[in-house]
Amino acid sequence: MAKFLALTSRGLLDVLESEFKELGFKRFHKTPHGVSFEGSWAECYRANLELRTATRVVLPLLDFTAYRPEELYQQIRRHDYTKYIDPASQTLAVEASVRDCGEFRDQRFVAMKVKDAVVDQFRDQLGLRPSVNTDSPDLRLMIRGVKHEFSLSLDTSGPALSFRGYRREGASAPLREHLAAGLLKMTGWTPDKPLVDLMCGSGTWLIEAALMAQKTPPGSLRQGFAFERLKNFDPDVWSEVLSHSLEQEDTEPTRPPQLYGFDLASEAISASRANARRAGVEEFIRFQRSAVDQVQLPEELKAAPPGVVVVNPPYGQRLGESHELDDLYQDLAYTLKREFAGWSCYLLSGDAERTQALKLKATRRFPVHNGAIECRFLEYKINR
Ligand SMILES: C[S@@+](CC[C@H](N)C(=O)[O-])C[C@H]1O[C@@H](n2cnc3c(N)ncnc32)[C@H](O)[C@@H]1O
Repeated sequence: MAKFLALTSRGLLDVLESEFKELGFKRFHKTPHGVSFEGSWAECYRANLELRTATRVVLPLLDFTAYRPEELYQQIRRHDYTKYIDPASQTLAVEASVRDCGEFRDQRFVAMKVKDAVVDQFRDQLGLRPSVNTDSPDLRLMIRGVKHEFSLSLDTSGPALSFRGYRREGASAPLREHLAAGLLKMTGWTPDKPLVDLMCGSGTWLIEAALMAQKTPPGSLRQGFAFERLKNFDPDVWSEVLSHSLEQEDTEPTRPPQLYGFDLASEAISASRANARRAGVEEFIRFQRSAVDQVQLPEELKAAPPGVVVVNPPYGQRLGESHELDDLYQDLAYTLKREFAGWSCYLLSGDAERTQALKLKATRRFPVHNGAIECRFLEYKINR
């Protein structure tokens, strides 16, 4: 048994906690830094494979206080790292992030001190030092320090879990996949409801929705995980976890989801199609090139109960000119009122002021981070 920690972006912690419940994990609880869960390595494998809204799963190793480099070095040596990799053939990397830690101002210095403590332990115990490889290490350690309180963890994921592997072609400013999945869960959308993305970009929201509808474990699409490179990796347990998860998948649902994506840019539409094809969900999503003011409610949805509209317009900071954005928001409001009466609309905006151009009153607001940009995820009920 070990205690792992699943990390996510700011604003998604509650959704991540609910996901643990949905997936049937038993011993987990929310902490200020992520969702902590207890279990065997099999559960760590499953968390990496199945969580849609986490960015990474780590194994916390040490918590300590240090004021001087020598103290940091000694504290790091309290843990045994020789059980994770073979120094003759495997590599390591240390990633540091430090804030308000006095003389530990330079993150590179902290990373180097930790690396020295770890490789010296290998040398003292086994007479060999592992090499450093920052691009693709076998053992990746993460050290975080805030006001001299340090925590050291071992990364079990490798590239962030948001990299599912299907999105090789991007439109401008795509949403990270775990964020798209998390926001979708916040809307309360379920696969029996139609979903429309009015500015679908690279198709992330719709592809994530289709994967949810098919119950595809998001990690089954990617190349591999960091835990597979550790000495304690058990391929039989992993293959059991993977086959159990894939058995739940339903690639031919009796009621296929109704998913529609629109975008002004033809490159965005072709990127979305290629991404959906790679994710194996192309048949469930209808993509169409259209400016937002020209979008019409698809014929087959006219008699159906209302669904969910999502939209992530360009940000002033990242795309386009801000005066053009007011017009875009007005076009959006016009289409919502004309075509989507009775639907719920969710808008991810990095421009809180700009949303006033919609002249609609938000019924709920969630603060979230899209990369470094602080955003609002806003809910609007479109009156009939
Ligand atoms: C921030 S991106 C959306 C990213 C998307 N959520 C994703 O994950 O890839 C905004 C999109 O709005 C589209 N767009 C800009 N003006 C538009 C308009 N007038 N009508 C429809 N789409 C528009 C852009 O082509 C771009 O793909």
